[in-house]
Amino acid sequence: MNSADQYPEFYRPFLWGSLTLSILAGFGLAAHLSSVMALGLVRGDVTIGLIRAHGHVQLLGWIGMLIIGISLYVFPRLQSKAFSNNNLIPVIFKLLLAGVVIFATAKILVPYFTGSTRFVITLVGTAGTFLETLAILLYLYLALGTFTGKPFDRSETKRLLPYFAPVFCGWLVFAVGNAAISFSAFNPVFPHSDPEWHNFLLEIFQRLIITPAIMGFGLKMLPNFLGLRAPLWPVKAVGLTYASGALIYFAAYAANIISAGNIHLIILINAAGLAFMSLGLIWYIWELDALFFRVKPERVSLKIYRSDASSLRGRFGDRGEFGRFELFIIAGFGWALIGAALELLNSVLMISGYPKYIEPVNIRHIFLAGFAAHIVFGVGTRLLPNLIKQSLYSPKLTLMSFVLLFSGTLFRILPGLTAKFGIVLPSWLFGISGTLALSALIIFTVNIVRTPYNN
Ligand code: HEM
Repeated sequence: MNSADQYPEFYRPFLWGSLTLSILAGFGLAAHLSSVMALGLVRGDVTIGLIRAHGHVQLLGWIGMLIIGISLYVFPRLQSKAFSNNNLIPVIFKLLLAGVVIFATAKILVPYFTGSTRFVITLVGTAGTFLETLAILLYLYLALGTFTGKPFDRSETKRLLPYFAPVFCGWLVFAVGNAAISFSAFNPVFPHSDPEWHNFLLEIFQRLIITPAIMGFGLKMLPNFLGLRAPLWPVKAVGLTYASGALIYFAAYAANIISAGNIHLIILINAAGLAFMSLGLIWYIWELDALFFRVKPERVSLKIYRSDASSLRGRFGDRGEFGRFELFIIAGFGWALIGAALELLNSVLMISGYPKYIEPVNIRHIFLAGFAAHIVFGVGTRLLPNLIKQSLYSPKLTLMSFVLLFSGTLFRILPGLTAKFGIVLPSWLFGISGTLALSALIIFTVNIVRTPYNN
């Protein structure tokens, strides 16, 4: 029986857990790292441990936990199919939280110890990754259950599958690979935490989980939030362009790491995959229309017939109770367009036999801090108050949080890009970037947490 009362409510600990992790470790460590790096106080292994913890918490602890929490609320409703067992939801949360905390703590502590203590901490860190893997597998079991059986035949599900199929594959590869890399630290045959595979998994998280999840959920939510035209454009073809690009890209990436086959051919295939992914994303941004707002919504013409027309915010249709949340979303897609254009340029150069123009490490934060973080803040500001049944503390804080996040991201990204053209920006700009972004998150959190709610 699939009655709506079996659909789980949004499980709030996912929100509080992800915000706490990100303040204390994700953006908290970003603030620390950017300032010590700007001051030239990098300390070898200690800094690497902090970078690993920062990246892991931001991806899995912050965005990953939110994606899991929100999708466990959305999928049963989207698919009109209840989960087989709602009691698994708190289990998933606890395993994930414990896993991320244990893993990140171990990564930070390991460099300070040697000998058997170091061995024990590494072992505990590996146990953390196994908890994470278990949490992700349980999540996949629940989420995939809503995509199988009768509702699978629905045309809407088929339209969305090119977006969610990569997300599910991404979670699976990340869950298994993350534990395998951690475990390989005890295997003398493998070098300690092979950096190639480590980067591979970071990219899996970015390109197969975060980006298609934003694209898929964006299709369902953003037209309503921003007064965009209904997604009647070729949704499936856009998703397939991105997904096929990702498949080609990662197949060639893995072949390159294990040196399987002709290296020139592998680079060519890898570049072709990157080009398709970039084109898919650019096409999505154009069709969704959340950046240039080319098409006027029906809402604008209908507005004149409403008695409360003057209190509505133009095409957005809200009364300003969420503040200027749309700025995050516009900026997010702006960053995504810049990132996709740079990667398209890189791929065309690679196909023509030239080296990449912009180093991938300088593009990564365009997607993570520029695209993903801005979309999370924007959608979060608009969606979360409804999910947790409360209103924002102050819509004005939304604008303040936006200015801080946008400037923090700009100062994080610009120095790496301008250096390419021989322009060296003052190091303090990079130094304050993490603190600005952390302040944005604290304000975002205060805005959501400050109002009382009824349980
Ligand atoms: C303005 C805010 C941020 C600052 C100042 C910052 C700072 C840094 C620094 C200094 C590094 C190491 C150098 C490098 O790889 O470039 C780094 C790496 C990384 N950051 Fe950020 N970051 C920020 C936001 C984010 C966000 C929002 C995410 C994810 C959503 C993220 C994910 C990562 C990842 C995955 C790595 C690589 C970690 C690894 O190599 O293990 N960062 N970040």
